[in-house]
Amino acid sequence: MGDTRLKETYKRYWPYIKQYKSQYFLVLIGILLTVTATAGTAHIMQPLMDNMFIKKEPRMLYIIPALLIGIYILKSVGRYIQSVFTTYIGMHIISLLRQDLLAKMIRMDMMFLYTNRSGELMSRITNDIARVQYFVSKMLPELVQEGFTVIALVGYVIYLNPILAFWALFVMPVIIVPLIKITRRLKRLSHRSQEKNADLMTRLTEVFNNSEIIKTNATEEYEIARFREENEHFFKLNMKATYTGDLVSPLMETIAAIGLAAVIFVGAQQVYSGNMTVGEFTAFLTAVGMVFQPLRRVSAIYSKIQDAQAASERVFHIFDLKNSVVDGPQTLSKPIDKIDFDNVTLNFGDKTALSDINLSIRSGQTIALVGQSGGGKSSLINLLLRFYDPDQGEVSVNGQSLKTLTQHSLRRQIAAVSQRVYIFQDTLAANVAYGSEIDEEQVINALKMADAFEFASSLPDGIHTMMQEFGANLSGGQRQRIAIARAIYKHASVLILDEATSALDNESEKRIQSALEAYTADKITIIIAHRLSTIEHADEILYFEEGKIIDRGTHSELLETSDNYRRLAGKMGE
Ligand SMILES: Nc1ncnc2c1ncn2[C@@H]1O[C@H](COP(=O)(O)OP(=O)(O)OP(=O)(O)O)[C@@H](O)[C@H]1O
Ligand SMILES: [Mg+2]
Repeated sequence: MGDTRLKETYKRYWPYIKQYKSQYFLVLIGILLTVTATAGTAHIMQPLMDNMFIKKEPRMLYIIPALLIGIYILKSVGRYIQSVFTTYIGMHIISLLRQDLLAKMIRMDMMFLYTNRSGELMSRITNDIARVQYFVSKMLPELVQEGFTVIALVGYVIYLNPILAFWALFVMPVIIVPLIKITRRLKRLSHRSQEKNADLMTRLTEVFNNSEIIKTNATEEYEIARFREENEHFFKLNMKATYTGDLVSPLMETIAAIGLAAVIFVGAQQVYSGNMTVGEFTAFLTAVGMVFQPLRRVSAIYSKIQDAQAASERVFHIFDLKNSVVDGPQTLSKPIDKIDFDNVTLNFGDKTALSDINLSIRSGQTIALVGQSGGGKSSLINLLLRFYDPDQGEVSVNGQSLKTLTQHSLRRQIAAVSQRVYIFQDTLAANVAYGSEIDEEQVINALKMADAFEFASSLPDGIHTMMQEFGANLSGGQRQRIAIARAIYKHASVLILDEATSALDNESEKRIQSALEAYTADKITIIIAHRLSTIEHADEILYFEEGKIIDRGTHSELLETSDNYRRLAGKMGE
């Protein structure tokens, strides 16, 4: 039943599992207690019938009930120890796994993070990992326990009466075949159910992230209907698994009844003929009845294994992914004073986002990128941040290829305000200082330069006011100014502003611009903007179309030489 795969899976969990040797030892003690007590329950039937009821020995009136209580105390203690420590192991492992999985995901390259739906990733971390818990903690001890119980009871039954034992147990192999069929089907269903769960999570994150647009377009009903469809599908899939999975128990019970019937038929004759005492027969019957209990549980465990295995495979798939952007050996410790793009080409699948880009920027310079939407401007920035590696050519800073540097040290030197503004659910100051210590004076300075201090002071708790998720309590322009302040606070040698002032009025933009002039004097500044006033003072303006730089020069040069730029400048107005 996929035993090699099971072994493989266990091997992968081994580094986690092996830390819990003492807990597993306690679990084993619990198991031994439980198994001994279970066999004892069957064995006590013999003196109960023979000595107590048939021979009517008076002292048995005390001994048997006392023994019974003792056996059940033993069993309960065993059960408790076992349950507590398996849960401990399981919960601890999954919390470690969850931590490791998030670490793995967030360290993956941007291509991975862009292409995987956030709902899907969340579903891996929450749902799939939870399904694994059973596998790493309960399953093995349960299998061991039920295995021991079956062996102990079967041994006991054979010891009591081998011939009768044959009649009782001949049905066992009959049970195995349907069981295998059922578990196969369950595994398939479980895979699909987990995928569906990821779909549901994706829908939910999408709905809540896009709530504004849903309200604007009055598409609540549409979204509800879409969700209902997915939800019903999920329900049906889970019910299919239930129809199949729940067959196991009644099926086994029926087969077990046949075995019991055979035992009674044969056994009663032996009792009639005096080959067996009533007590022996009762003990035998009890033991046989109890054999089927663990057998039934083992089959239930098998169906859960399918579920956990499917989840494990999905989790390990993520752990096995290779990062396509790999750190180089060197740390960039000096500020960046030179950026070079040499014949750089970047493709997304068949689509060329950038081709043959040649560019050299020195510190103190301001470069502006303009042109067509989808022309490749943001992609150029992403290459500089090393979100991707170019397919051809090389990007380098201070004469060193980005591939030779650690990503961490590179990005510490670059402050970027991206086209999409990100606000964390934290205080305004923490948002500005994001990732480093909060220095209030510096925060206020950065806010002043970003023309955001005035509005920050008007907030109820000033710079210590909590921002909401996505900055929901802010205006678009306020969000942008916080993002600019964050970039300024970083004091990096490269400042990138990708449409960073698109939501601001001209006055505010001008204030920021003049504040930045001194700040960026010794830095490299790259600006992407649609407003002429923002870019006309740039040292070089690059005009992008379909991933190529088709015109370049200063504002006045381009006005003379480039039709494209003139057209753009006309559109940009002012
Ligand atoms: N992660 C991605 N996967 C696939 N294609 C992408 C990805 N990112 C960008 N592209 C494609 O690369 C091209 C360049 O995109 P880019 O974002 O660089 O344009 P842009 O010049 O910044 O445009 P805009 O002014 O609209 O922001 C576009 O055609 C876009 O569809
Ligand atoms: Mg862009």
